[in-house]
Amino acid sequence: ATGEDPLMSLPKAELHLHIEGTLEPDLAFALARRNGVTLPYASVEELRAAYRFASLQEFLDLYYACMSALRTRRDFADLVLAYLRHAHAQGLRHVDMFFDPEGHTERGVPLEEVVEGLRDGLREGEAELGVTGTLVMCVLRHLPEETSLRTLDAMLDRYGDLIGTEWTGIGLDSSEQGNPPAKHARVFARARAAGLRLVAHAGEEGTPEDVTQALDVLHVEHVDHGVAAAGSAAVMRRLADEHITLTVCPLSNLALQVTPDLARHPLPTLIAHGVPVTINSDDPAYFGGYLGDNFIAARDRIGLTEAQLVACARESVDASFATPARQAAIR
Ligand code: ADE
Ligand code: ZN
Repeated sequence: ATGEDPLMSLPKAELHLHIEGTLEPDLAFALARRNGVTLPYASVEELRAAYRFASLQEFLDLYYACMSALRTRRDFADLVLAYLRHAHAQGLRHVDMFFDPEGHTERGVPLEEVVEGLRDGLREGEAELGVTGTLVMCVLRHLPEETSLRTLDAMLDRYGDLIGTEWTGIGLDSSEQGNPPAKHARVFARARAAGLRLVAHAGEEGTPEDVTQALDVLHVEHVDHGVAAAGSAAVMRRLADEHITLTVCPLSNLALQVTPDLARHPLPTLIAHGVPVTINSDDPAYFGGYLGDNFIAARDRIGLTEAQLVACARESVDASFATPARQAAIR
């Protein structure tokens, strides 16, 4: 079926993709073996069986545990290539790729191994598949702001010359409960002054007010998830008026029980209120589907129309951090 469905060949950009969330169990075990690392699961089957999440935090605990398999520049390049091959077969043309530097530096992996590996993977993927990509560093909101500031400074110090080309933005991810956007306000102010584009996870497990705070305090241009905005007509009106794009992730929302049922997903409400929305995969290895699979779920299980899905794909290209020339080539 993959490849035959017209939604699979529809050209798309992905704006909400954590590269660490593309680590499939077989690759995790292969990398762990290559690096002499022991994963906290005995087998691929046992790891897969652990993919049942009652909340974002339960997922994050497993996501950080599996990261221990990733150690070298080649690991990160192989991870990117595996993702690009998979997503390209589902219509991916461009990705603004999230990565969590602190998920690696905090366990002793040098920043350069991570970033150079991701750059290698993007370069090799473009040569092989014609897919383009940029990097968006995310800071982990559960860590103190001082840690995020140090991480941003290390990135600026080492890779500041890539801003606006290979490195386009900064995001905010990890545990939303108890870690509001304002906790990292200084990091975002510094990133903005450095010329980075700004995005943040808000209103995934949180409230419409979390979405508002990400706009007022961090000045983000996209809100990642943002589905909680559907609970407030006023917040939806603001997102529509200011053309703030939400990067919605249907299969993620289902897997993390943000929505009890895709038939009750907030996407149709957001669209009815004129909110610019895109469809994305978030952590596809963990949530049961890549980019095209999320489009198909949005059609078959949420009930979006063909025209609405084409508009989502178009918005993904227009709101992406690809150059205007690249956006035009994809459209
Ligand atoms: N890190 C990876 N995926 C995430 C998500 N869906 N929410 C918050 N942090 C994340
Ligand atoms: Zn996410």
